[in-house]
Amino acid sequence: MERLEHVRRGRQITIEVDGERVDCWEGETVATAMLTRHLRLSRDASRPRSVFCAIGVCFECAAEIDGTAGVRTCMTPAVAGMRVRTTSGGSARA
Ligand code: FES
Repeated sequence: MERLEHVRRGRQITIEVDGERVDCWEGETVATAMLTRHLRLSRDASRPRSVFCAIGVCFECAAEIDGTAGVRTCMTPAVAGMRVRTTSGGSARA
């Protein structure tokens, strides 16, 4: 997934995903920030998961965010300093 360069965005912020710094923009979801960096969510390291419905129904995108488990990243706006942890095995590159 590539970001469109002509789209007006909020200010640039940084979140952390499994210890990796991820630059993104205010207003975009955590899932979007991860997808643009080719990061997947991995409950089982041998079977990496990612966004499926992107509308908050399937929970395929769930991760731990700032200590709260099971947060749907497709429904959660990125906030500066946010710490995201995939549930097991760390994030996997697509
Ligand atoms: S991708 Fe389905 S709930 Fe997030």
